[in-house]
Amino acid sequence: MEEIKIRKKDLINIIQNVESFINPKIQLEQYAIDAICAVDIIFFAGFEFDDIEDKMILDLGSGTGKLSIASAFLKAHTILSIDIDIDALNILKRNISSLNLENIIFPLGCNLENLELRKNILPKDLKLTTIMNPPFGVQKEHADKMFLKKAFSISHVIYSIHVASKKVQKFVSNYANQHDWKVDYILPYNMVLDKIFPFHTKLKKKINVDVYRIIKRK
Ligand SMILES: C[S@@+](CC[C@H](N)C(=O)[O-])C[C@H]1O[C@@H](n2cnc3c(N)ncnc32)[C@H](O)[C@@H]1O
Repeated sequence: MEEIKIRKKDLINIIQNVESFINPKIQLEQYAIDAICAVDIIFFAGFEFDDIEDKMILDLGSGTGKLSIASAFLKAHTILSIDIDIDALNILKRNISSLNLENIIFPLGCNLENLELRKNILPKDLKLTTIMNPPFGVQKEHADKMFLKKAFSISHVIYSIHVASKKVQKFVSNYANQHDWKVDYILPYNMVLDKIFPFHTKLKKKINVDVYRIIKRK
């Protein structure tokens, strides 16, 4: 296995320079993850838990693909970047092509609710890691619930970003339990959001999130 050589700061630089949403859609909660956060999460999953290298990554609600691109540089096997919004996917395609990642990142336009993965066509020993920054459910109640439910049905391990709160922790933990999954680790994180929607009052805003690692119950 070849050693991963990219330095964190170089990867952050790459992600900072990719194209982001042009006209973000409020109803789809299209706020992009900031580059530092994207790289921190992928390094965390890759180096603390070995969940990236040689794994198939499912980036649910990929948007313009920052998490997908970071995973590609940490030597994921393949990345399926799924989003309902064709405008976001067109930006992702430009990002893929500008970085020559056509052989590793595959954009897929679909409503996640309708996604079905036929795992029997994949190599038997290929592990599927879901990485997602789902809508927090501010615009459409329980949008994050649908993302989690889908992730439970298709993944071997899940990384999911949610607003930090005891209530959300209880919800994610109970919901995982109901599906025979369990929260394995919670990484508190300070995510920076750019002003993108007119109702945002500051140019940049820090929000406290929790990054969940969720695994199947034995
Ligand atoms: C918070 S944004 C995250 C974007 C990107 N992953 C990032 O972190 O920069 C949520 C993404 O989920 C997508 N989305 C919302 N509802 C969806 C659905 N039902 N099916 C697929 N994608 C959806 C949105 O278009 C948006 O790109």
